[in-house]
Amino acid sequence: MVLIIGLNTIAKAQFQAKIDSILNLMTLEEKAGQLSIFTNDLNERGDFIQDQYITLITKGAVGGIFNAHGAEYTRRLQKIAVEKSRLGIPLLFAFDVIHGHHTIFPVPIAEAASWDLKAIEKSARVAASEAAATGLHWVFAPMCDVSRDPRWGRVMEGAGEDTYLASAVASARVKGLQSTGFQDADAVAACVKHFAAYGAPQAGREYHTVDMSEITLRETYLPPYKSAIDAGALTVMSAFNEVNGVPATANHFLLNDILREEWKFDGVVVSDYTSVLELINHGIASDTSGAAFAGFVNGTDIDMQSSFYNHALPALVSKGVISETRLDEAVAKVLELKFKLGLFEDPYKFCSKEREKRVLLSPQNLSESQNMAKKSLVLLKNDGVLPLNSSKQKLALIGPLAKSRQDMIGGWYAAGNGEIAESLYDALIQNKNVKELMYAVGCETTASDTSHFQEAYETALQADQIILALGEAAWMTGEATSRSSIDLPGVQNQLFSRLLKTGKPITVVLFNGRPLTINEIDHYANAVLEAWFPGTKAGSAIASVLFGDENPSGKLPMTFPKSVGQIPIHYNMKNTGRPWDGVTNTTSRYTDIDNKPLYPFGYGLSYSTFDYSSIILDRDSFKAGETLKAAIKVKNSSSRDGEEVVQLYIRDLVGSVTRPVKELKGFKKVLIPAGKEIMIEFTIDENLLKFYNTKHGYASESGTFELMIGTSSEKFQTCFFNFTK
Ligand code: GLC
Repeated sequence: MVLIIGLNTIAKAQFQAKIDSILNLMTLEEKAGQLSIFTNDLNERGDFIQDQYITLITKGAVGGIFNAHGAEYTRRLQKIAVEKSRLGIPLLFAFDVIHGHHTIFPVPIAEAASWDLKAIEKSARVAASEAAATGLHWVFAPMCDVSRDPRWGRVMEGAGEDTYLASAVASARVKGLQSTGFQDADAVAACVKHFAAYGAPQAGREYHTVDMSEITLRETYLPPYKSAIDAGALTVMSAFNEVNGVPATANHFLLNDILREEWKFDGVVVSDYTSVLELINHGIASDTSGAAFAGFVNGTDIDMQSSFYNHALPALVSKGVISETRLDEAVAKVLELKFKLGLFEDPYKFCSKEREKRVLLSPQNLSESQNMAKKSLVLLKNDGVLPLNSSKQKLALIGPLAKSRQDMIGGWYAAGNGEIAESLYDALIQNKNVKELMYAVGCETTASDTSHFQEAYETALQADQIILALGEAAWMTGEATSRSSIDLPGVQNQLFSRLLKTGKPITVVLFNGRPLTINEIDHYANAVLEAWFPGTKAGSAIASVLFGDENPSGKLPMTFPKSVGQIPIHYNMKNTGRPWDGVTNTTSRYTDIDNKPLYPFGYGLSYSTFDYSSIILDRDSFKAGETLKAAIKVKNSSSRDGEEVVQLYIRDLVGSVTRPVKELKGFKKVLIPAGKEIMIEFTIDENLLKFYNTKHGYASESGTFELMIGTSSEKFQTCFFNFTK
């Protein structure tokens, strides 16, 4: 057994010398092993691994294990690799830490709704710190898939429909995960996923075909991945789906031409779970060897879970089908990642039980989670019933999500423990503002049983106000959760209608991982608060908004349709040759519904009122190399301090290709004291005007542009400026 002696943190060049020396010692089987990762047992995460993997680790046939965590457990597994395998190359430990590890934060779409990039970075920082404290080196996050189809359940994991916002969020998440560097084992390697365009499956159906123009791919879907890579992400995950006829996991155009050649990414590409094997199902390979060849030569370095690289790469290299030099290039990237993480220096540096105990679920981490939850809540409607006045309310808390703790931590909850999460009931029962809290379940989340309606009705009659906790179960969004309808599940709408008959004011608190069609609730409820799945501190965060301790400031990162039939519907559609004018039949419209969403992108109310002045431009035209400054005064005309997300949109009126009716090109979340007015300024430069043209060049064009600044994608001040190349 040759144990690789520890090294200090050294320049990459010295990595290279050590990497080369290790490569020279490795057999083809050991090289294929470094390109293979396997799951800890999903049924008993954290403390169980199949014997077959112990054997593989001992044989040096495993580069990493995912879904295993815990300082002691990872130490035990690492010890096998370091002491029992021939070369003692340490394992990578990875996990889906998507919105927190033990301290669970709001689901990613909720975090995006905060539009607070510092808070989003902080959330990722806490997640990384807790992950690293449990022996993890690598997290399969951030998910950077733009999506405009709420039928697709994984919209919960992303940052919504908009390229600009998703790019900013992706960068913030990578900085939070990796920013402190790996010297103190307090950071983890990020993984940009799912490359690429996984969020655009046909019909919103999970794993379905993705087919789009290269202009759309480059303009809308690729930028967030690039933003994450530009922020320094060390790894990328290739997606399940095909893109324009070629599965992403074997897509040379994506993995080589775009990722390596254009973006100069030199890190590791890992497949998604068995997506190498699935190349056979896609029909671009007929057997293990063909699939391993297609995945490997087109740019997927690591095979997650299918074991096809272990089985086929040594023979493919022995036969000269794949050069050993090419194999070594991939293995070198994996070894370099392990060097960067300091694992050759000290394979156990992430395995500190003392630190694990100190870091996990610390008061500070829980406070950060609660802070993010408060910022992620979006007030969708309020006729004045909120904030609940503190005259000691008699409240009826009703609904299937009212007492649920597990649902509060959403999907992909990593090592989160739902039992310690705060339900809305937990928070209200101990809230000093509540004189009396009555409760009735009303109905279950998805069941069709209406037998508890009467009890809920009678409970509500005794109260001053109804707080109705409705929505999806946490398992209804995340992977493999596409729905053909995005209505409230079960009989929840019927429960709402029944409670309307009490005549009591109803505030609906919505728990969901995707936009839902809640037209009736929007029409008849007195208030609607979008809570998403707010994490470990859900209950207290929601209560703080209900009672006005916190002024809601969230804005929707994704359009809420009125009907599933409108999908795809997003704020930056194209104008078409026959734009709907509201009256003419022969325009781009439906005969049975208008084109308007229920709630638009960027929308969210506050307890404050914000008045926008006209836009002030420092000039009405500018040239390439110059900038234009746009300013606007925003006054908080209420008696409450409040945060506002001031949004900047631009429309290119004429281009060599059709341009969207508007595009988000800037935003600032600002606190405006009660009664005060502040000036917000944006700088416009040529870069904000560039787009992909038919030659796939990314360039600006001279012309007239509309500039919009406001409180949502539908409510803004507008002006025009000219740009000359
Ligand atoms: C899953 C997901 C991916 C995740 C991976 C490992 O199928 O698609 O997001 O990171 O497998 O759990």
